Amino acid sequence: MDPYNNPDQQSEATILAMITRLEERGQHPIFLRMIAAYAAQVRRDQPLRVLELGCGTGVVIRFFETILHDESALIGADISLRLLEAAKSMRPNSRVHWDHIAPGRLPYENSLFDVVVMHTLLSHVPDPEKVLLEAARILKQGGRLIIFDADHASTTYGLPDYARMRAADQKLADAIATHPDICRQLPRLLKRSGFRLENHHAEIVSECGRGDFWLSSVRGFARLIPALGILPEVEGRAWVNDLLSSHEEGTFFAAGSYYTFSATTASDLQDHPQTNSHRKSDCAAPFLAP
Ligand SMILES: C[S@@+](CC[C@H](N)C(=O)[O-])C[C@H]1O[C@@H](n2cnc3c(N)ncnc32)[C@H](O)[C@@H]1O
Repeated sequence: MDPYNNPDQQSEATILAMITRLEERGQHPIFLRMIAAYAAQVRRDQPLRVLELGCGTGVVIRFFETILHDESALIGADISLRLLEAAKSMRPNSRVHWDHIAPGRLPYENSLFDVVVMHTLLSHVPDPEKVLLEAARILKQGGRLIIFDADHASTTYGLPDYARMRAADQKLADAIATHPDICRQLPRLLKRSGFRLENHHAEIVSECGRGDFWLSSVRGFARLIPALGILPEVEGRAWVNDLLSSHEEGTFFAAGSYYTFSATTASDLQDHPQTNSHRKSDCAAPFLAP
């Protein structure tokens, strides 16, 4: 059901809901702070070649454009033409190069990029390990992969009835993500794909009393629940109304965790013949800020 698996096959109503949600959350101070925190790991004093895979409407790669060296090459790639059109129309003067790609093998040569960013991509792809192997192939040796994703399995919207709340949380997570538990799998998947995990960071985003960040998610779900049939009609309406009224009454509760993983292509790639077989042996200059 995950609409982000193939946005272009969704109805106009669904894709508009996706564009609105991606832009709203991408401009929210909480999200901007989390993006800025991981972007700060990338050095700015020299041009870099940076790819955001699964860029959607371009929130993240446009942020990198504002902070990286002017001569950096910035590419936003996505499988959705509709989302890329939205990305282009929002900032016609952006220096970002937008690539429409097919799922699977990426249209980039080996060892091309200094940095690859995946911001809420991996929870949506059918085979995250294949995507990681491709990232390992196109990154320079010592290049950096930054993965940011939601631990959808932890996201919860407070309802007065526990059983109803648990059931709704699970249905929403399963509907909106192919892998609601991707963050819990990443240490294993990164290792298997030839990456060395350098650091990770977790953040709980919670709102009690009034909603803001999560309220925009509730409003997004108000459009997606009927469009995708996530919950039966009456149940779906009750879920939305309960959360909107709890916000009005000052009793709103919602919370969820986000993780950032920062990994480098392992220098000892002998153990990873899948990634090593295509790789050139030249070494990239270090790019991380001291
Ligand atoms: C939740 S959105 C995130 C968009 C953007 N990174 C953001 O956070 O605003 C997931 C994006 O991944 C894209 N996507 C899904 N599968 C993909 C794949 N195999 N390769 C590249 N992009 C993909 C979708 O089209 C969608 O734009």
